[in-house]
Amino acid sequence: MGIMMAIDTGQVPLFLAPMAGVTDLAFRLLARECGADFTISEFTAAAALTRQDAKSWHKLESDPRESPFIPQIFGGKIEEMVHCCELLQDVADIIDLNFGCPAPKVTRHCAGAALMGKPDDLVQMVENCVEISDVPITVKMRLGTDSDKINALEIAKRVEDVGASRICVHGRTLRQRYSGISNWDLITEIVDAVDIPVVANGDIVDAESALKCLEITGAAGLMIGRAAIGRPEIFHQIKSELGWQKEPPPWDNENISDNLANKRLWAWQRYVMINQELHEKIDIGHNSKESNFSNKNILRHAFSFTKGLPGGKSFRTELHNNREPKELSRSVEGFLKSLINID
Ligand SMILES: Cc1cc2nc3c(=O)[nH]c(=O)nc-3n(C[C@H](O)[C@H](O)[C@H](O)COP(=O)(O)O)c2cc1C
Repeated sequence: MGIMMAIDTGQVPLFLAPMAGVTDLAFRLLARECGADFTISEFTAAAALTRQDAKSWHKLESDPRESPFIPQIFGGKIEEMVHCCELLQDVADIIDLNFGCPAPKVTRHCAGAALMGKPDDLVQMVENCVEISDVPITVKMRLGTDSDKINALEIAKRVEDVGASRICVHGRTLRQRYSGISNWDLITEIVDAVDIPVVANGDIVDAESALKCLEITGAAGLMIGRAAIGRPEIFHQIKSELGWQKEPPPWDNENISDNLANKRLWAWQRYVMINQELHEKIDIGHNSKESNFSNKNILRHAFSFTKGLPGGKSFRTELHNNREPKELSRSVEGFLKSLINID
């Protein structure tokens, strides 16, 4: 209630964070149905895209329901990133460049967050991508490579100067990976220093933290990652608790009560249904047997949609033996239905 009363901060768009292995197209569309205003693809290697790797292009599929379509790319070579922007600009509405990934398999090629340690290269990359691209180029970054090498503010000003259209800042360093807490105060300094929109990211998990982050940073948008895994309904929850949205949640339209298992069941069924629709479209459209539905993300989602529910842990052990997507989806559905009356 305190939250509802306290609002004098205006509404800002909510972003579903790009998350490899999580934010496949079906999940992004589901997050949209739940109130996410912007969704971004999983990061995809510019090197793979430029050599026409089919699996990587598959990751960058979109759908008219996802507008704007924002593919995210990463790479350590400027020419590859630029070529990739050239290839993507016909399908993308915005192209997002990743300077935030801390994974060694990325940073060892001096890509992702490692580029924050080479600010001249990073800025040059952004400048060249902006020059070649007809669509806006946005940037997602961390605070710097380490606590004594915080340079996000300097980089933010420089990428603004070379034409970046928006910056998202995850308030941790590369070295921190996901430890510690996201430093929203440092995000505030960036918000104050540049004129382009700055999106705040890191540790927003509910309406209370969303409001706090917004009050501290004054950011133009909030991005939510881990808290949306298995919980796409978080976007509606935040918007309605903050009084940003009066409409009932999408699960309410189907006479589903608001308990946790019910919400998860609705979300899971929607996830599977959207996947099926996309699968059919792909089969018809490209006469291909390749299936979005069979991607390995579904196992990951089966795990996350059953987290925090009674009996979920033992159910998930069984899931390991069941990797066939259709069976998997039925089994998750059965598990969630079995909980409806007891949660
Ligand atoms: C499983 C996972 C995969 C991620 N993949 C990406 C990615 O592909 N691109 C990216 O820019 N950030 C990626 N991130 C970082 C998130 O976008 C986000 O910046 C980070 O999780 C902090 O936000 P949060 O505290 O809301 O989770 C990933 C994070 C997780 C947990």
